[in-house]
Amino acid sequence: MSKSIKNIAILASGAGSNAQKIVNYFFDRRDICVRIIVSNKQEAGVLNIGRAASIDTLVVTRNSFYSSTDLSVELDKRNIDFIVLAGFLWLIPPYLIQHYPDRIINIHPALLPKYGGKGMYGHFVHEAVHLAKDAYSGITIHFVNEKYDEGSIVFQERCEILPSDQPEDIAKKVLILEHYYYPTVIDQLVSALTL
Ligand code: GRF
Repeated sequence: MSKSIKNIAILASGAGSNAQKIVNYFFDRRDICVRIIVSNKQEAGVLNIGRAASIDTLVVTRNSFYSSTDLSVELDKRNIDFIVLAGFLWLIPPYLIQHYPDRIINIHPALLPKYGGKGMYGHFVHEAVHLAKDAYSGITIHFVNEKYDEGSIVFQERCEILPSDQPEDIAKKVLILEHYYYPTVIDQLVSALTL
């Protein structure tokens, strides 16, 4: 018999505004559940989002993340089917990618393959887009592989950049797209999983 609930783990390093949207989106769903929020930072705001929603939280150390498979044990305990990165800054180790083939996604605040790779996160991305005087930026949702921002692309949406837009303005436009699209794309991918 197939399992009726699909469980998601969110991995995040920061404030977690995307995590909050995802938690809200799936709050009253019977078929898909945000089961755990994992962070690499003890003080990350995203952990409070988990606590407030009675979702399990877990802090991982660099050593346990890269030199053990403790995290996959924790995920297995909770029958996690799918991993969502929402501002998680560490590269995902091979054991986790192999454990969740095509079941880990990330959102990047630009139109990959431009403005991706190590060190390209947060304001660094929007500053680079601004400097290049691009007419558009946007979001990319992609599967995660062993390299930063190189997994196959699932979804992109763009927003227009005005000549007067500063990096902060670009960041705001991009974040609106992230909040709007990330939960629905997750929904589509997780709903389509065969367990
Ligand atoms: C987002 O901009 C996302 O694109 C990137 O990290 C940021 C996380 O922001 N991967 P928040 O913590 O969800 O507000």
